[in-house]
Amino acid sequence: MQNSTTIEQFNAHVMGTYGRYPVVLENGAGRTASDEDGKTYLDFGSGIGTNSLGYCNENWAEAVCAQVRKIQHTSNYYYTKVQADFAEKLCETAGYAKAFFGNSGAEANECAIKLARKYSFDKYGKGRHVIITLNNSFHGRTLCTLSATGQESFHNYFFPFVEGFVNAEPNDIPALLGLLDDTVCAVMFECVQGEGGVVQLDEAFVKAIADECAKRDILTICDEVQTGCGRTGTFLASEQYGIKPNITTLAKGLAGGLPIGACLADETCADVLSAGTHGSTFGGNPISCAGGLAVLNTVTADGFLAEVNAKAAYFRRKLGEIPEVAGVDGLGLMLGIRLKTKKAGEICKACAENGLLILTAKEKLRFLPPLNIAYDEIDAGMEILSALLTQ
Ligand SMILES: Cc1ncc(COP(=O)(O)O)c(C=O)c1O
Repeated sequence: MQNSTTIEQFNAHVMGTYGRYPVVLENGAGRTASDEDGKTYLDFGSGIGTNSLGYCNENWAEAVCAQVRKIQHTSNYYYTKVQADFAEKLCETAGYAKAFFGNSGAEANECAIKLARKYSFDKYGKGRHVIITLNNSFHGRTLCTLSATGQESFHNYFFPFVEGFVNAEPNDIPALLGLLDDTVCAVMFECVQGEGGVVQLDEAFVKAIADECAKRDILTICDEVQTGCGRTGTFLASEQYGIKPNITTLAKGLAGGLPIGACLADETCADVLSAGTHGSTFGGNPISCAGGLAVLNTVTADGFLAEVNAKAAYFRRKLGEIPEVAGVDGLGLMLGIRLKTKKAGEICKACAENGLLILTAKEKLRFLPPLNIAYDEIDAGMEILSALLTQ
């Protein structure tokens, strides 16, 4: 695609852990990125859901640049006002007592796992450490979060994995309840499995987890790394399921494209991780917090999520009108389509060649557009996609 020596230079010096498209992105504005040759790409992927306000959003960039000029890092031996402001706004918005900040989704989940195990250890002693996770889940790439991930394809090469994770089948209530014995300290799940292929959990299943865990003092951990921060049309996807997990993890879109991970805990477990039991050098970095605060101010502004929902309904309807589309899955602006005959990987590549960035998830095409995408941009992207799916 792109004739660039950058790709050669890159591949010579960066480990080949990703199957990359031959596109070298250099600039971005609004919902459009451009490459080294000036070719433009409308973005329906947001850097896998991270650029929640698109590229270089004005308010966000101002807040980030102002923080860069003020103080960029302090270590967590000191306090910063920007981390306090961000934590306060995040806890208020999500309805939690306290936050721990890391730099990624995996770290947010790692924190949740440690927190749940310590909560149980403090109250019940050793042996109650099992965490139930779901088949087809994805929780991250560290050894512990890979172990938590309920997909065999991720359990290779890096043996031994971390003990104490048991997988349950999504939406099978009796099977899940049958696993809740006195070795279990938590159940961890995504309301919509993202990397697993944009697969929504049933409301009854999620409610059954919440009810039964509450009865047994087993913590619920909702991994909202991909679904959180307005992506599904509510601030948290769990709101649409009518549950309030003890722990919610966030990352991706939370700081608008800067590295961040947050583990939010409710009153039952907010003080479990005491000084010295957990930490992260960069966690709660002032620049990421400033970016995060700008995102929160936008996402919680009057009418913003109503707009996300209206655009999501429009996006979904447009996808459903393409004859090659067998079905549309997902919630809000986290959408996946099943294709009748075409291969998702090939379409994704062809879209990039034609100036549209989209994603795959398993055999589906996945869409995580910026939350502030405009209707005419949805139309423009659909035209490219529809033409490629109709050829
Ligand atoms: C649900 C979920 N949890 C955790 C992660 C890991 O996040 P990160 O790549 O930021 O470590 C991801 C990443 O795709 C995710 O979708």
